[in-house]
Formats: sequence, C-alpha cells, structure tokens
Amino acid sequence: GGLVWRGCTADCDAEDGAAGALADGNANPGDKLEGSGAAPDDPVHLKRRVGLFSGVALIVGTMIGSGIFVSPSGLLERTGSVGISFIIWMACGLLSLLGALAYAELGTMNTSSGAEYAYFMDAFGGPPAFLFSWVSTLVLKPSQMAIICLSFAKYAVEPFVSECEPPDALVKLVAVISIVMILAVNCYSVNLATKVQNIFTAAKLVAIAIIVCGGAYKLILGNTRHLQEPNFASSTATLGNIATAFYTGLWAYDGWNNLNYVTEEIKNPSKNLPLSIIIGIPLVTLCYALVNVSYLAVMSVSEMADSEAVAVTFGNRLLGPLAWLMPLAVTISTFGSANGTLFVAGRLCFAASREGHLLDILSYVHVRRFTPAPGLIFHSLIAVAMVLYGTIDSLIDFFSFTAWIFYGGAMLALIVMRYTKPHAPRPYKVPIFIPYIVLIVSAYLVVAPIIDKPQWEYLYAGGFILGGLLVYLPFVKWGYSLPFMDKITVFLQMVLEVVPTSTTFE
Ligand code: ARG
Repeated sequence: GGLVWRGCTADCDAEDGAAGALADGNANPGDKLEGSGAAPDDPVHLKRRVGLFSGVALIVGTMIGSGIFVSPSGLLERTGSVGISFIIWMACGLLSLLGALAYAELGTMNTSSGAEYAYFMDAFGGPPAFLFSWVSTLVLKPSQMAIICLSFAKYAVEPFVSECEPPDALVKLVAVISIVMILAVNCYSVNLATKVQNIFTAAKLVAIAIIVCGGAYKLILGNTRHLQEPNFASSTATLGNIATAFYTGLWAYDGWNNLNYVTEEIKNPSKNLPLSIIIGIPLVTLCYALVNVSYLAVMSVSEMADSEAVAVTFGNRLLGPLAWLMPLAVTISTFGSANGTLFVAGRLCFAASREGHLLDILSYVHVRRFTPAPGLIFHSLIAVAMVLYGTIDSLIDFFSFTAWIFYGGAMLALIVMRYTKPHAPRPYKVPIFIPYIVLIVSAYLVVAPIIDKPQWEYLYAGGFILGGLLVYLPFVKWGYSLPFMDKITVFLQMVLEVVPTSTTFE
C-alpha cells in the first residue's frame, strides 16, 4: 500500500492551535478524518491557510513548553558554570535554526506530510522509514508527553509543599492524573482539544513576559551581581557532560521542525517556510536568553541549580502576594503543551497503523465522537509507564538521544538526495555546509554521552530502534499476522466502541 502518512497534515497543524485546520472551532470531525486519508486513492488537498504569521506562531507555540521552566537548573548543574550554560543555551538555538533550515529544503522538496517519514522513504526506502514511524509512535511521542506531564506535576505540587522537596510519589501521581485528564479531553472531542490548546498557548507567553519584565525590573534596580560570575573555571564540564547538557537545552527547543508536518498547508511554502523558521527560532532563542538572565537577576547560581522549579522560586522572590501566578501560568502552559503533543501523537499513530505499519485497532475511531481513541489510549499507557519508571532528566536524555539519531538521519537524507536526485526541484536550497554541520553535531550528541558515561537508557533506545526490524520483516514486509489478533481486535472494538473509518463514512 501507499506509504505516506496522509493523516498527519490536518492534525499536526493544530498542535498549538495557532493556525490549525481545526482551530476555527467549526471543524467537522467527519471532514477531518476523511482528510486524514479515509480515501486512500485520491490525494487529499488541504487548503493552504498557514501564512507567515501563523507559521511563526506555530513554531514558537510548539517550541516553548516545559523546557524553559525546568531545564535551566539541570543545565547549570551539568556544566557547573553560568557562562558555559549560557553559551549552550545559545548554541542550542543556533543548532535548532540550522537544523530547521535543512528541514526547509526537505519540506519544500517533498511536500507530503509526515516529515522525517517521507524523507527517509525518498532517500533510504521502506525499512528506515518504518523504523522512524515505529520509534516516533512508541518512544518519541510518549516520552515527550511523559516529560511535559512530569514538569506539569512539579509545578502543580510545588506551591503546596513550601521549602521542602515534594515527595516523588506525589509528583508521579499528579503527572499520571494529568495524562488521564488530557486523554479524556482528547477522547471527548477534537474541538475541545483544540480550544484547550488555543487558550493555553496564550498562558505560556504570559509566563515568559512576567519573567522577562520581572528580571528587567531587578536589573534596572542594579541587581546584576549573579550575572557577573560566569566562572568558566569552576566548570565541571567534560565532553560527555556537555553533550548531555545539550540534551537538556535542546529539549526546550524541541519542536523546531514542527512546520514540516504541515508543509502542504503553508501558503507559498518556498518563501514562507524558510522565513517562518528564520523569524521564529531566533525569537524563541531570544526569549530563552532573556528568561535565563532574568532568573539570575533574582537568584544566585547555586539557588538556581538547586531549585526544583525555577519559575516558582522566581515568583516567590519577586511577585510577593502574586507569587501564585507563576506556578499557575507554568502549569497551564505545560498542560497545553502536553495536550498538543498527545493530539499529534494520537494522529501519528492513527496514520501509521492505517498504512499497515501498526496494529489495525490503533487506526479506529470512536463511533460517535470521531476521536482516534485507541491510538490516544495506547500512547497514554506508554506515557504513564514512562512517568512511573523514569525521571524528567533520564527521560530527556532518553528522548534527545533517540530524537537526534533521527534528526541526524534527516540531514543524511538531505545530503544523499543531493547526489541521488540532483535535478529534483528544490524551491529552497540550503547551503550544503549546514546539513553537514548539523550531521556532525548530531553524531557527537549521540556518541559522546555513551562513551563518557554509558547508561542503560542508551542501550534500551538503540535496541528498541533495531528491534523494530524484527517487527518490520514478518508483519509489514511478509504480511503475517498473529492468529489471535482478530479476536483481540473485535473485543477491543466492542469495549471501546470504535470502528474503522471507512465504515463510518460509507
Ligand atoms: N520544547 C518543548 C518543551 O520545552 C517540547 C516540545 C515537544 N515536542 C513536540 N514536537 N511537541 O516542553
């Protein structure tokens, strides 16, 4: 069958509600699922509705999530120096920008949705593309969800446990509750999920604005002493430490490739895609720089490294009676990001399984609500397991390690296609040194931590990626299915009240 993720476009677009096909609030779920590939034979044409402004909003809205509220402490801890942390924050912004520019070439050259999946298909063929869909459905998306919900829980719990560290079990419990709530929203209705997204996106901008204004106020009062201690010398950074510090920083920038999931919907993509990237990513980088400076205008380096929730510490110092605003804004922001991430995750899973790349049941939709409930439930279960067995830092390492294998893979795909498809139209052509730089950096990011400090997580991740081949060969390539699978599918269909989409629209 066709191996294109038709489903992704309309959906990923709505991740942050900035320009979503669903964001206008009158989306008809039926249309949506048809648009998601219910008719496999005719190509689906989506309206080009993402202009420059929405493009920028989509990038900024996806990138700003939990990271800037949790990563600064970890980064400082890993580098042991304000100067080096700051350099890494900026370098992460630059790396994301370069990576995104290379993705702009890929995205304008192959406009089918599914981003990496489609590029791997073009450059390397079926198996690597399958491995990508396997890993992104089973690892990348659920771990994003787990990390964001754990950050949510940290901030939701912090105000109630003043001055001592919140009990781990409580944080995990709240994280699991938030996953269940987000799951309920997304299973209940597509419209509700999109509304939550739109409202909550505003909250993160408010949180950033409060921090930046507060910091500026403190700096104007002359509170610059913590910024004057860049202490490069005290740095504890080894090469591997720096790579994992990058993981922490890059998590905050993750989402820089999000526009590639909606290339089909961008107006005049060869101009607007690169332009949105060139405006959006430096904008986020600037926000992060200002936020980092603001944190240090209010607390000392060691306070920042020790803080469980920097933004709460910030609020307590600066906002007096309004201190509750900060944890509230951050919980809303992270809840919104988690919602958007599950929204896309459910659709990815849905699209991959309808191409025969995952279990059929995962592509079914609820009979009345038209939400892809099985896919959403499946993702949430994996995310819950990750919350229970992981910590924010270990999950970020695990996520970034895996993600950068594939980001590097996309760079390789670009370089390979310059040779194998030299004459393919490239409306936007990135200077070729850019993908080479990103490829080298991603190789470093993947290899350095393993050499420096081997951890089980890396082995799991590597084994998991290759394990995908064990599934690909029998079930996708040779078309076998498990004997009892039919019965399970029917059972789950009855319990969940879900049907294949073609049945719904016949
Ligand atoms: N950068 C975001 C954060 O700091 C995470 C984005 C997750 N990625 C995604 N494609 N939704 O929380």
